[in-house]
Amino acid sequence: VKELEDNCGTPITRLHHVAEAMTVEMHAGLASEGGSNLKMLISYVDNLPSGYEEGLFYALDLGGTNFRVLRVHLGGKEKRVAKQEFQEVSIPPHLMTGTSDALFDYIAEALAKFVATEDEGSHPFPGRERELGFTFSFPVKQTSIASGTLIRWTKGFSIEDAIGEDVVGELTKALKRIGLGMRITALVNDTVGTLAGGRYNNSDVIAAVILGTGTNAAYVERANAIPKWHGPPPTSGEMVINMEWGNFMSSHLPLTKYDQALDTESLNPGEQIFEKIISGMYLGEILRRVLQRMAEEAAFFGDTVPPKLKTPFILRTPDMSAMHHDTSSDLDVVGKKLQDILEISSTSLEVRKVIFKLCDIVAIRGARLSAAGILGILKKLERDNVTTSRGQKSVIALDGGLFEHYMKFSASMESTLKELLGEESANNIVIQHSNDGSGIGAALLAASHSSYLQAPV
Ligand code: BG6
Ligand code: GLC
Repeated sequence: VKELEDNCGTPITRLHHVAEAMTVEMHAGLASEGGSNLKMLISYVDNLPSGYEEGLFYALDLGGTNFRVLRVHLGGKEKRVAKQEFQEVSIPPHLMTGTSDALFDYIAEALAKFVATEDEGSHPFPGRERELGFTFSFPVKQTSIASGTLIRWTKGFSIEDAIGEDVVGELTKALKRIGLGMRITALVNDTVGTLAGGRYNNSDVIAAVILGTGTNAAYVERANAIPKWHGPPPTSGEMVINMEWGNFMSSHLPLTKYDQALDTESLNPGEQIFEKIISGMYLGEILRRVLQRMAEEAAFFGDTVPPKLKTPFILRTPDMSAMHHDTSSDLDVVGKKLQDILEISSTSLEVRKVIFKLCDIVAIRGARLSAAGILGILKKLERDNVTTSRGQKSVIALDGGLFEHYMKFSASMESTLKELLGEESANNIVIQHSNDGSGIGAALLAASHSSYLQAPV
């Protein structure tokens, strides 16, 4: 336990080094393609929602815990989001590692079922195709606001034949196969959708961070600070950048042998190292690996190693969170989780206390590192201190299951950010939960890029 605690240590100086390294990599990724472990992807979103968007739009959100379809009625400046309906569908695990057609057919069918529930007459322009914003939360090289090729999969997806393909093309083909006429007018990452949704509600939003199954950030960059952008200068002078910070790597990251083993045995070895020590897909698995070693080398659970403990990913982050939030004096929740998930019965209070401590070490490392990542963005934008930010408020829109449900994680992330910024500067920085903002954001961007508009909204 002591060894793990030392190796996961995130003293404030180390976090400052991590933030500094993040800023350096941001510059390098903006300078040239392949110049950094941060891809700093150009989103083609150069105008964030204005509030004047109007009409009925759909959004499809793929890449978080669940896949979601949304229908959003935008009422313009007065009524804003007049009505919003959604449906959540889980992706059967075999589709996450199957073929592109199988995945997109499944999505298209779920969308068709949802479209069929539309109230008669609610489509304001009969005869026009319905329009859709597609939130696709994986690294994509965009070629326009509504097209882009998949660079690689992350977060447990691995579908070889989709890599290098235009994901909008793949979805459009699947929609055609089932005879559903719809136009995809915006393709966005979840961070970009969350940024758009956040900005719609608050004009001070400058960045968005997802802490969920995976982790990533997007922010608004000055177009002339993007040397690798050779397109026409955007009229707004700005461009939203999808950092893909899950792939950040630095010698300052506190990595342990558990992280190294998890990475080597993962679907994407050598990739997404920051994500693998922070995000919801991995925290429970890190804990399982620590417990397995303690069982094997120190008979932590008695003479035999509990067989279930050897199953990768059996311990999920929500279960770890439940154990970490156990407030009972004899840690009943910890005991129950061990029993229900790992079939380990009658543990001593001492054992349960150690497990509680391990949860704390693993989760707090992730939380503190994500705060350092946010500081990296603020530094890049020179908003990390009162003098350079000139008193402007900077709001960061946050979303994702880890942030929303793992309260000790989010509390630690927020307090670490304050600690890093110092009291005076921290007053200008606001963390705002943007619940499901990415779906609405995608619908808003679909509206502002509608093919039926004469002029941009
Ligand atoms: C949701 C967003 O709220 O959070 C998704 O709508 C995003 O776009 C997701 O991908 C991330 O969280 P999780 O926990 O579902 O991975
Ligand atoms: C992964 C994806 C990224 C996404 C993030 C959060 O890191 O590569 O695109 O934004 O997860 O869902």
